[in-house]
Amino acid sequence: MAFPPSFLDEIRNRLTCSSVVGRKVRLVKKGREFSGLCPFHNEKSPSFFVNDDKGFFHCFGCGAHGDVIGFTMRIDNLAFPEAVERLAEEAGLEVPRSSPQEAAREERRKTLGDVVEAAAKWFEQQLWSGAGRAGLDYFRSRGLSDQTIRDFRLGYAPEGRDGLRQALRKQGFEEPLMLEAALLVKPDDGRESFDFFRGRVMFPISDRRGRVIAFGGRILGDGQPKYLNSRDTPLFDKGRNLYALDKARLGLKDGGDAIVAEGYMDVIALHAGGFRGAVAPLGTALTEGQLELVWRLAPEPIVCLDGDAAGQRAARRAAERALPLLKPGKSLRFATLPPGEDPDSLLRGGGRDRLAESLATAQPLVEVIWNATLEGRAIDTPERRAAFQADLDRLVATIADPSVQALYRDEFRDRLWRAFRRPLSGTGPGARFQGRDRQDRRRGGPPASTQPTQMSGPLPIPSPGRSLHIILATAIAFPAVLEADAELFARIEVPEPDLARLRRAILEAHDTQPSLDREQLRLHLNAAGFEGIVARLLGSSIFKGLAFVRRDDVQAANLNWQKTLLELHKRGAQEELRRAGEVTDADLTDLWSRKVEEMQRELSRTQALELEDEPPIVQSVASRDGRNAS
Ligand code: UTP
Ligand code: MN
Repeated sequence: MAFPPSFLDEIRNRLTCSSVVGRKVRLVKKGREFSGLCPFHNEKSPSFFVNDDKGFFHCFGCGAHGDVIGFTMRIDNLAFPEAVERLAEEAGLEVPRSSPQEAAREERRKTLGDVVEAAAKWFEQQLWSGAGRAGLDYFRSRGLSDQTIRDFRLGYAPEGRDGLRQALRKQGFEEPLMLEAALLVKPDDGRESFDFFRGRVMFPISDRRGRVIAFGGRILGDGQPKYLNSRDTPLFDKGRNLYALDKARLGLKDGGDAIVAEGYMDVIALHAGGFRGAVAPLGTALTEGQLELVWRLAPEPIVCLDGDAAGQRAARRAAERALPLLKPGKSLRFATLPPGEDPDSLLRGGGRDRLAESLATAQPLVEVIWNATLEGRAIDTPERRAAFQADLDRLVATIADPSVQALYRDEFRDRLWRAFRRPLSGTGPGARFQGRDRQDRRRGGPPASTQPTQMSGPLPIPSPGRSLHIILATAIAFPAVLEADAELFARIEVPEPDLARLRRAILEAHDTQPSLDREQLRLHLNAAGFEGIVARLLGSSIFKGLAFVRRDDVQAANLNWQKTLLELHKRGAQEELRRAGEVTDADLTDLWSRKVEEMQRELSRTQALELEDEPPIVQSVASRDGRNAS
């Protein structure tokens, strides 16, 4: 007997191949397909594949091939009609009877897909007819061209109670089908059912092949709820579809980025603006099913979110949800827009370049996880670092892929190791290295950060009190030494807050005016309230007794200053290495040995200098005690 083709299609639409096959065969997801051991021949390694997009299974071993119906026939040894009946029941469909009249009627019977398509057409007609003037004006007022409105098949659902129901009934659709397609609402009290979407502009939602399966409807202007979406139906699973997925698949054929935006209007604005890989979730946060879908579009789609706090939280949620699903080569990137902007508002406000820049500088997922976990916390004590590390470890443990998990663990260990070496607090993408700022200053440009030479250097160098005092005093009495090496100076650990502020003031003065002389610097420091401390530092008998101070010898001061700093630096490095129990601190030891070489060369050129005259500051300090300069 013959079943109407539309009926068979309906079965194939409603039942995914993998779910039917999956009851009999253990399937493992492999990219777009599932694979498993073929149930139709004996095998040890899987050559049996299921493809849900195409709706069939195939065995490369024995050649078995077919759709859900063929599978059911073979596996349960059923005749075609029996298999169809069994599957129809499972899909909640009534099997058409086989009389010729019944068959003819069935042929006329409209399917779920047809009724949704008919509704989409009707909404479109409404928009372009006088009845939908308000809707058309609304879309135009939001900057959409008529072409874009047509491309996205935007429509209008009028205010009336049942305009759609009546129109569809005239076309021969039955009410239960309209209800099943979520186009109507049926009141509990037995009154007539009415249109679900009323007085809204309509966004048809398509499946990956471009067939309309559901709708989103936006209120015109303000009001709640702003958007209504079709509830899930046999055709529509919110968490397994994306808005404009069909268009993005086409758009990306010519290259470009896959972009995940938040809203329908964002996606439309992006496509209209030439960003043709844009999609959006359907009124929920990005689900796992949707992640799988965007990964079919591109290996590293860019999630594009508002720069405000809510957008950042959404980024964090998306990043964490993606972790378990990461695969080699598959990840997400995150573009941050200016606060309060979405792609739609940005593009409308002429921010195309700004948007392109955000996309081009999108952060990798690893960065988002690190920053989100670091946010708002200090990791300046071992306990705090341990808590931070535990939080990171918990997240890393959710990564299912072993190689990605292992590499994330390495990456975070590495970052932690680097972070341990400098005071770092959760204020954003991490402290910058001092050297960069230095370079900017040398080029004569403005400092790269607003606080160019503060304490956030790569490593704090522990310093015994006296040598610190001498270093500070030298910087004040011989500001030229700062030209030679402000970096190391900026990195030394200064436990006393007053002295730390003084050091910062010295560096700031140096940053704003590099060739400050002694008097200018004194004036600057006095004005900043450091007069007392400076006087005590410069007046200390140890400092006044130093040979280069007595001779007022800038060059000797310079050498001594550097030598002392390096001595401290080296000591700090050794301390650090001992603590870590391993020698990996390449940048530190490099820097140090380069500096020593430099110094050695310098020393041999200035034979006239008798460094023996200079008290070895660090040692002499170590033999004395006390933290006050006076
Ligand atoms: P937004 O509130 O960010 O709106 O919601 P939008 O997309 O910028 O909308 P316009 O620009 O004001 O028109 C983002 C997405 O969240 C879903 C929709 O999918 C929307 O596109 N949403 C929002 C709902 O499902 N219901 C709502 O009430 C609001
Ligand atoms: Mn918007």
